[in-house]
Parts: sequence; structure tokens; C-alpha cells
Amino acid sequence: MSKTKSVYICQSCSFQSAKLLGKCPSCNEWNTFVEETFTKSNSSSSGKSLVQNLKPVRLSEIEGNNFTRINTHIDELNRVLGGGIVPGSVVLIGGEPGIGKSTLMLQLALQFNNLTVLYISGEESLYQIKLRANRIKNANENLLVLNETSLESVINNIETIKPDLVVVDSIQTIQTDSLESIPGSISQIKECTNLLLKCAKHHSIPIFLVGHINKDGHIAGPKALEHIVDVVLQFEGDLSNQYRILRTLKNRFGPTSEIGIFEMFSDGLHEVINPSELLLSQHDDFYSGTAVGSSLEGNRPLLIEVQALVGNSPYGTPQRTTNGFDSRRMNMLLAVLEKRMGIKVSGKDVFLNIAGGIKINDTGIDLAVISAIISSGFDSSIAKKICFAGEVSLTGEVRQVSKIEQRIREAEKLGFESMMISKFSIKKESIKSKLKLITISNVSEIPKLIL
Ligand code: TYD
Ligand code: MG
Repeated sequence: MSKTKSVYICQSCSFQSAKLLGKCPSCNEWNTFVEETFTKSNSSSSGKSLVQNLKPVRLSEIEGNNFTRINTHIDELNRVLGGGIVPGSVVLIGGEPGIGKSTLMLQLALQFNNLTVLYISGEESLYQIKLRANRIKNANENLLVLNETSLESVINNIETIKPDLVVVDSIQTIQTDSLESIPGSISQIKECTNLLLKCAKHHSIPIFLVGHINKDGHIAGPKALEHIVDVVLQFEGDLSNQYRILRTLKNRFGPTSEIGIFEMFSDGLHEVINPSELLLSQHDDFYSGTAVGSSLEGNRPLLIEVQALVGNSPYGTPQRTTNGFDSRRMNMLLAVLEKRMGIKVSGKDVFLNIAGGIKINDTGIDLAVISAIISSGFDSSIAKKICFAGEVSLTGEVRQVSKIEQRIREAEKLGFESMMISKFSIKKESIKSKLKLITISNVSEIPKLIL
């Protein structure tokens, strides 16, 4: 006989409680508990057909080298996946609504003429998908489209059709009969992902799952899901800007922190081959408060324009706003300016913007940020053909950054004449470069060099 059990589950961190709580004791979020009911005899039966009596195998007997990745024919996507799609892998792609997840997935599905692709949508009707496919134009007439939200039917279809690739848009709309909770609840999402993962591994069919993100920017149903899948990609960007960045957050088959850059057009997403050229402004005038920094995203050097605006604060509490850069890190750099260089910024408004709507996590951009702030503070522009690469420590010391050679090559390629780097970057490797390398060891040396 089946036994029904009801628990309250925090939709943010999956903490379970026997009674309804206002505040989650685990993640401290308010009003996140939802009652979910489990029927004991059914909850695991749906996965049974996939379970075999497995025995351990010697490592040496496992064939390891012979899997071939599927080429997606989208270089930027191949890059973030670590060189293509691994058979049997489950890839979760998250992002804000409207960022272009469905567009990217449909573009991927339409790339293949010789492979069977099954595109399952629980969000859009077949007509809507057809309209979108018409916009993208690259029509693969053999694409199989299914409008379905029942997990059992999805798995049935995968097992009968045996496609080469499956896309599920989105995991939050899929629902299994074995749980009574509503679609999109944390137990539904986890159970559906688990069963799809088993199906992917069992039949060696790669599956892409689209996932919505919640208001904090996490994939809804959140970290729990990231543990289950093989690859987590995040699609991000400023909705008012055409650039979109696909970032690897987790990859069991390749490097993380790789990025792919796309541009949204009326006929879908286009790859951006030379991002640095686009991210630098095209103006010829010299403005104060801009500095070009060298950042490294994954293995990819990017030159980006950092813009700072420093002004007198009309209010008691000065405003500090950043766009594309960690605001705590900017506050730290402002404290370094004040303490180590005696530049007064405490009563000033400081705004910082990374051009192109891109988000930077690399600390190698510190030197450019601090230079842009100094330039705006003194209202004196920095020479146009210089760029910066260095991390700034609390002592004001300029520290070396990783892969300096690659950064220098990128700057050379884009016609820069000089680059300011940490003097410790030079010691380790003798760098041959057409660039004039300006080496410094402390931030206090910056003003006389740039102004
Ligand atoms: P979509 O892929 O539906 O976003 P998501 O699935 O992440 O919610 O993309 C939505 C936006 O992209 C929408 O505002 C329209 C725009 N778009 C284009 O600009 N060009 C196109 O070719 C397509 C298909 C969409
Ligand atoms: Mg969508």
C-alpha cells in the first residue's frame, strides 16, 4: 500500500521541515516553504526500468579515450562546453527571462542536418517554435518538436525515438506523476532532472536543460540541481545591450570560467569572434576617467574599457555604484587610494562602469579600475594607446597576474603601444614584445606615469 508523507521544503535551499516555518533556519530566507507530498511506493518506481544489476569494473578495463564529442558548429558554444557535447552528458543552461536561452537552444537544434534532434518545449506552442525557427532561418526540416510537460511521456519519447540530442525547455515546466507537488517546485525539479540524467547516461544521449533563474540570480531549484548535472552554463548580459555572455560555472569534462560571447540580432544570436574590438569604444577623443584593462576570462584575454566618474557628493552619504564590477572590490580599491596615496575620495560620488555590459571577475583589472578613478578624480585623460594589467593588494602593492604573455599578445594585436604591469611579472619570464612595458610595484607610482 502506498504511504503519503507531507513535508515543508524551502524552495531556496531545499531544507526540509515537518511544520511550516516563516524563516528558513538554513538559508535565512523568508516565506520560502512550500508543502510537498510524497507517495512512498511510487517515488522511486519511475526510475526502476533504468536500474540494472551493476558490478564493479577494473579501471584498466574501462575504455576511456574513444568518446567523440559532438561538434555544435557554434564555436562559442563548443568553447564553453570544453570542445563539443559529450555523449550522455546533461547540460543545464540558466539565465534571466528574455536573455535568449530558447533562441540559443533552437539555434543549436537547427544546426544539425544529419543528426536526429528532439526539442521538447513545455513553455511555447509548436506554432511559436515554428515562428522562432523562421526568424532564425537556418531551418533543419528534420527537427522533431514536442510540446509536452509530462516527464514520463518525455522519457518514453526519448526511448522510442533514440535521438542524438535532446533539448528540454524548461526543466521547471516538466512534471513527474510520482510526486504530487506542483511543477517548478524543488522536489519536482530535482526528481525530473535525476530521471533525465539516468536516461541520458543509460542511452548515451546528451540532454540540454533550460533553467530559469530566481531573483538572486541563481538557477531556481538552485544549487541542488547544479550538483546533479554534468555542466552548468549561465547565459548573462544586460537586456538593454545586444551582447550576451555564456559562462561555464561547472564542467565535468572541461575547464570552467570559459566564456562565449554572442550578439542578439533580429535573426537570432551571432557569435562575436573578436570581442576586444567590440568592447573598446571607437571614439578618437581622449576622455578623463577611462582606462583599458586586460582581463582573462577562462583562457581568453579580453581588453575592456573601464569608465569611472568621480564627483562631489551633493548628499551626506556619497553614492558608490558599479556596473559589471564587484562593488565591494571597488570600495576596497577606494580605501587603498585614500590610505596609501592620500587621495581623498571619502566625500565623493564614485560610479564605475565596464563597457559593453560585460561582468568581470578577474582581479587583473584592478590596475585599470584604480587608474580610471585617478584619471576622473584629477579630470585628466590617460593616453589612448596604453592598457593595464595588475592586481592591487591592500598594501597598495601591484601584484602580477596570470598568463601575462597572452594578455600582452592581445594588446599587441589591437594596436596598443604600451602596457602597465607589475614589475614582478617581468622577473619570472623574459617577455619579448613590441609593446613598451611600464613596470610598477606600487599604486603610488601611477599618477606621475599616466597624468
Ligand atoms: P528567448 O530566447 O525567448 O529568451 P529566454 O528563453 O531566455 O527567455 O529570447 C527572447 C528575446 O530575444 C526576445 O526579447 C526577442 C529576442 N529575439 C531577437 O532579438 N532575435 C531573434 O531572432 C529572436 C528569436 C529573439
Ligand atoms: Mg525561453
